Amino acid sequence: MIAWPGTPVALAGRTVLHDPVFHAGAGEMVALVGPNGAGKSTLLRALAGLLPGTPPADPRRVAWLPQGARCAWGLTVAEIAALGRIPHGDADPAPVERALAACDLLALRDIRIDRLSGGQQRRAMLARVLAGTPAVLLLDEPTADLDPAAAHAIMALLRGHAAAGACVVVVLHDLALAQHHATRMVVLDAGRITADAPPDIALKQAAAAFGLPHGPDPRPRLLPPP
Ligand SMILES: Nc1ncnc2c1ncn2[C@@H]1O[C@H](COP(=O)(O)OP(=O)(O)OP(=O)(O)O)[C@@H](O)[C@H]1O
Ligand SMILES: [Mg+2]
Repeated sequence: MIAWPGTPVALAGRTVLHDPVFHAGAGEMVALVGPNGAGKSTLLRALAGLLPGTPPADPRRVAWLPQGARCAWGLTVAEIAALGRIPHGDADPAPVERALAACDLLALRDIRIDRLSGGQQRRAMLARVLAGTPAVLLLDEPTADLDPAAAHAIMALLRGHAAAGACVVVVLHDLALAQHHATRMVVLDAGRITADAPPDIALKQAAAAFGLPHGPDPRPRLLPPP
């Protein structure tokens, strides 16, 4: 369970989040969508306790993947994934191996991360998060660099974690991906939540937030049902 009570957030003297009451519980996979600058990353940081004046969340329980997360050090993929164990103070190899396999990184495990493609690097950063076996995953655009197949694979993986009892909050710009995989969609527009509902219902409001026309079913036709 993770929540933000609706406290307004101001950055550099400007209110960025107005009154967004947000909560997500175990078993949920919440897609947080909205235009650039709407406040999605700020809300995620608020949930992680990373804003000034809020207590930081327990990193063993709550994992946060920042938007555009990169690693500048010349560590191997396996070493990056193992960093996920730091909050636990152990080097348990089992969750690290599971995370590498889940992110399709076994063949790349000994390659330095700075020699990988953008999408491969993104998967390695996600493996670090998963290796920490957090109960709450706050992921800011985790599929941004991924090809469509990899994006769906990662979303299905995260959905599986939610089904197994994790609480997953994912910031996404791909509405079809969100609709297909999320159990709930929260639309943030100019610092306010304008919809909080099952994806099929919230999608209309999401389209409105982007100024897009809303068709009856924007899902790609080739996808199997969730
Ligand atoms: N450190 C900061 N100092 C001042 N203003 C900030 C800071 N971080 C973000 N903002 C402002 O807060 C607003 C919300 O930013 P935020 O990064 O939360 O948006 P977002 O919804 O994640 O957008 P995007 O889709 O582009 O990632 C923006 O207007 C941004 O300029
Ligand atoms: Mg953002």
